[in-house]
Amino acid sequence: MKTLDGIDVSGKRVFIRVDFNVPLDKEKKVADDLRIRSVLPTIEKAVAGGGKVILASHLGRPKGKVVPEFSLQPVAPYLSDLLGRPVSMAPDCVGEDVKKMIADLEPGQVLLLENLRFHPEEEKDEEVFSRQLAELCDIYVNDAFAVSHRAHASVHGVTRFVDQCAAGYQMEKELRYFHEAMEDPKRPVAMIVAGAKVSSKIGLLGQLLEKADHLIIGGAMANTFLKARGKNVGRSLVEDDYVNEASRLMDAAARKGVNVHLPVDAVAAPGLEKPEPVRKVSVDEVPDDMQLLDVGPRTIEAFQKVLGECATIVWNGPVGAFETKPFHEGTFALARFLGDSRALTVIGGGDSASAVRQAGMAGKVSYVSTGGGAFLEMMEGKVLPGVQALKDCMEKT
Ligand code: 3PG
Repeated sequence: MKTLDGIDVSGKRVFIRVDFNVPLDKEKKVADDLRIRSVLPTIEKAVAGGGKVILASHLGRPKGKVVPEFSLQPVAPYLSDLLGRPVSMAPDCVGEDVKKMIADLEPGQVLLLENLRFHPEEEKDEEVFSRQLAELCDIYVNDAFAVSHRAHASVHGVTRFVDQCAAGYQMEKELRYFHEAMEDPKRPVAMIVAGAKVSSKIGLLGQLLEKADHLIIGGAMANTFLKARGKNVGRSLVEDDYVNEASRLMDAAARKGVNVHLPVDAVAAPGLEKPEPVRKVSVDEVPDDMQLLDVGPRTIEAFQKVLGECATIVWNGPVGAFETKPFHEGTFALARFLGDSRALTVIGGGDSASAVRQAGMAGKVSYVSTGGGAFLEMMEGKVLPGVQALKDCMEKT
């Protein structure tokens, strides 16, 4: 994909769509800055080239209204500290005041626009709004991989009306790692799919049967698979409507030669809100009054044995209720193992990415995607509308 390399941005208005949809704490301070740090190379490149840099993002889901709680204001000083230069804040993302602020920008200055989703037209991918955004830029850059699964005006519609476009470095990196791990991987390939619900990952699981040599299933969704294998899972969360589907998937995997690995033991408790007593149990003898809340030590060992033989590992979803101690161990052990592994290790999805960071492994795995839904949709084999629009735009310009 064409990036800002080789594009002369000097004196030009460089409009960069970023994804600053970051968590803010109670004091409205940025609580996790992965998405901000990840786009610094693109911003710095545009600044160094003498571009007038305009940043646009959404934050949260304000549903087309101005909701002060979702203002991007707190991000401006945070970004300014990271960049070591002032970042001014616009009161809106379109309109006369914004145009004036942009006209007043000097080369190398940075302006952050207010939340795009304060306008209902953004999510509707509306043409007039897309044109208004396009009017703000000489060069349009999409560095917002994490929202490129949405056909929204700022990642989709706008590309029809801009003269020149490019991919940000983060976007380029996301697509490169994805390609390496999912489209042209070194084998054997293991996919770890975990998290709460089978229902939200059913499309993904089907798709992965075409790609993986090993499919490792963990988290509460494993309970539905265990039930499909005839195990009693006590009071654990199970999606009864998906038990047959889980059976079908395992049969299909067997036909295709994909090895499915389920937990063999677990850390159990009466419930997350009542986590005492905690017991390690085999999946063959789960007490009726217990819930499976994490994978157990024998499972971790078994998963690690499989992973140790793989050249490519993709991980989406925590294998236990890792936010509540002591049910973090399985997920953290997995994160540590991936951090020490010599395989290509790619982690995607908000929870697994956060677990990898909490386990101190973010710098040790090959790649942590900034995408949640976007990563999942790519894994499902979908073409992201924002990525497609960018490619079309590059061909046109
Ligand atoms: C994300 O956090 O996954 C992206 O920023 C997209 O946000 P959305 O799910 O509200 O569209």
